[in-house]
Amino acid sequence: MSFDVNKIRQDFPILNRKIDGKPLIYLDNAATSQKPQAVIDAIVAYYQTHNANIHRGIHTLSEEATQLYENTRKKTADFLGARKPEETIFTSGATAALNLVAFGWAVNYLEEGDIILTALSEHHSNLIPWQNVAERTGAKLAFFALTENGELTEEELKTKITEHVKLIVIAHISNVLGTIFPVKRICELAHAVGAKVVVDGAQAAPHMRVNVQSLGCDFYAFSAHKMLGPTGVGVLWGKMELLEPMEPTVFGGGMIDTVSPNCATWAEIPYRFEAGTPNIAGVVGLGAAIDYVQTIGMQNIEHHEQELTAHTLRQLTTIEGLRILGPKKAQARAGLVAFTVRGIHPHDISAVLNSAGIAVRSGHHCTMPLHKELEIPASTRASWYLYNTKEELDKLVEAINEAKKILR
Ligand SMILES: Cc1ncc(COP(=O)(O)O)c(C=O)c1O
Repeated sequence: MSFDVNKIRQDFPILNRKIDGKPLIYLDNAATSQKPQAVIDAIVAYYQTHNANIHRGIHTLSEEATQLYENTRKKTADFLGARKPEETIFTSGATAALNLVAFGWAVNYLEEGDIILTALSEHHSNLIPWQNVAERTGAKLAFFALTENGELTEEELKTKITEHVKLIVIAHISNVLGTIFPVKRICELAHAVGAKVVVDGAQAAPHMRVNVQSLGCDFYAFSAHKMLGPTGVGVLWGKMELLEPMEPTVFGGGMIDTVSPNCATWAEIPYRFEAGTPNIAGVVGLGAAIDYVQTIGMQNIEHHEQELTAHTLRQLTTIEGLRILGPKKAQARAGLVAFTVRGIHPHDISAVLNSAGIAVRSGHHCTMPLHKELEIPASTRASWYLYNTKEELDKLVEAINEAKKILR
């Protein structure tokens, strides 16, 4: 399918909104994406015509709801290049998925003295669970050193990935630096020393083709809401041989095989990790989101975002006093730029941009250690997606220049 951004925009009703009389320019996609009508319709249609609890009923509605839910599992597995649908577990989001690997698997896998290798740029959702795992197991956290441009060198990988490392936890794409980390290479080096790799794909799965088998990772997590889907749904993919020894972390209905007064046995994978009534409508919405991005084509989305990134970087580098966090070359990064402007607080920039109808985010973006390392309290982040245009990014640059005039 050819990529027509203006046609795509028509699928997103919220893009018709005005903010204080100005057209909305939505550049907060790294926090959450907007939803196309097809996703909204799928959720409404589910509630209007199929709503029932899944797996436990033999009436028609329950069977339909179960089929919709399980169809999405198949779609998600295909989307990630998984070997089988059962390797795909639905959670409430990337955070819950990472917590499930941490407390269902890593606490039993790691021992005292083992090293968990990660980066200071990780989102708190992919750092704090591992701090806690380290505390419980006696394992130690170690950190890759990133270059000034927020990249990971081959030399650094070879220095840090030693036989003491048992686990590497890394974002596929940093939500602040925008860096695309060399996950495939990390997996090769990790496996050569017998370590496993957990990938936080929250910022990658929505924006680029991901194939967990060609990446070679052991676990991969992402959230539906950053990929045109609803909030409250996420995915944990894991290799079946690692899911088998993984323990459930939430207990209750739907995850058991047999129950007696004092003990219980678990249902098959993936059901043992999906206790209670799941977010069925949300999963159905994720299915519609996957259909949508696949119809557009992940490669087309990636290409469009790359063009916007190159265009935006070129312009931002002309703004005096503006510091771009992360790689300076567009090819090394994804569709987001976090920055600071000398002498102006990021929150003030965001406020001025908001008055121009532009939605960006400022703060530490759940990466306090990274901001501390960069010696800045906060940054402003603009992040784009398939429906954003060059004209919108030109307006961003214009508005930053305007903010400088007002605030200095
Ligand atoms: C890199 C990264 N990891 C994890 C998360 C957590 O995602 P969620 O809040 O959807 O669980 C985010 C969200 O911003 C993120 O950017």
